[in-house]
Amino acid sequence: MQTINPTSVPFRTLYNGAKIPVIGLGTFGSDNYSAETIAQAVKTAIKMGYRHIDCASVYCNEKEIGAALAEVFAEGIVKREELWITSKVWNDKHDAVVESCKQSLADLQLDYLDLYLVHWPFPNYHAPKCDVTARQPNSGPYIHENFMNTWGQMESLVESGLVKNIGTSNVTIAKMKLILRDCKIKPVLNEMEIHPHFQQTELYTFMKDNGVEVIGYSPIGSPGRPERDRTSDDTVDMEDPIVVAIAERLNVHPAVVCLKWAVQRGQITIPFSVKTDKMFNNLKGVTEGLLTEAEMEAVSKIDKNCRLIKGQVFLWESAKGWEDLWDLDGVIAV
Ligand SMILES: NC(=O)c1ccc[n+]([C@@H]2O[C@H](COP(=O)([O-])OP(=O)(O)OC[C@H]3O[C@@H](n4cnc5c(N)ncnc54)[C@H](OP(=O)(O)O)[C@@H]3O)[C@@H](O)[C@H]2O)c1
Repeated sequence: MQTINPTSVPFRTLYNGAKIPVIGLGTFGSDNYSAETIAQAVKTAIKMGYRHIDCASVYCNEKEIGAALAEVFAEGIVKREELWITSKVWNDKHDAVVESCKQSLADLQLDYLDLYLVHWPFPNYHAPKCDVTARQPNSGPYIHENFMNTWGQMESLVESGLVKNIGTSNVTIAKMKLILRDCKIKPVLNEMEIHPHFQQTELYTFMKDNGVEVIGYSPIGSPGRPERDRTSDDTVDMEDPIVVAIAERLNVHPAVVCLKWAVQRGQITIPFSVKTDKMFNNLKGVTEGLLTEAEMEAVSKIDKNCRLIKGQVFLWESAKGWEDLWDLDGVIAV
């Protein structure tokens, strides 16, 4: 297997001095791959030179990933402190963050996490695979007071040493302004959807201006996303003529251009794949072969505001539609 020296992978420094590798392996395999296949990919990735793995309890594979991590440690491939492991608390555990974190730690067979995120800012009790159109009687909009209660539990995890860094995911400017105003420990980063056709420039810039780093998820445009996250209006980043032209110049797959653009723009990227060749191309892609200034400029102009992960499954009964999740007019929808 081809490998990349992990020391050649760039990192970003968070406001507290922690250093996070700019590329991590995503582990949300939707319905396409078994937990064992994804765990095997984690093991392969670490042998290949990946040092950052993006996990979550709701991906239902932390136990299998934990077994894979135990193997790489036992085989002496890597030491715990050389890895960056992220996990996330799911929506139905906003009142039981510490318990949820301890469960993830037990499943991953770790005694601390490098990063713990609140996966979504909505309390919600639906099963991970529920129907797209369902409105959940137990779901609700963002209530800042409740979120800060959840955030207080996140802060306690840092204080007790179970977690080194805490962050948010899927929050908007309106929500982040309130969180920044009221938090004791500021989020180190926000994990959010970003790819060339959905650049979220205003939100991205807001985060960076406030010292909050950004992890961009679905960086390739999530071609394997579940059926519930597909609409006829969705566009395909990898088929964009600008992306394809850059890929031809650099002799790489268009997917790799999306990742190079992401890292060069200044964000952390977490592409998913279980295929050894793709995992390698992605890791190699962010360690060499920059886009030119003109190419960066050209990609900045192909934004189509095409959100793929709309979050419909989190809607509460009185919500008008998925736009309510994203505070499109700058006001938190209730
Ligand atoms: N915080 C959140 O709410 C949130 C939401 C969504 C995702 N995430 C995280 O972000 C990660 C990545 O997002 P994602 O899985 O939605 O989408 P993605 O990384 O944009 O796309 C993954 C797909 O791209 C394909 N691919 C990967 N590398 C490729 C290459 N070099 N050439 C061609 N195709 C390539 C893979 O194909 P194969 O299937 O053939 O390998 C896979 O199906 C997730 O796994 C998860 O960890 C977080």
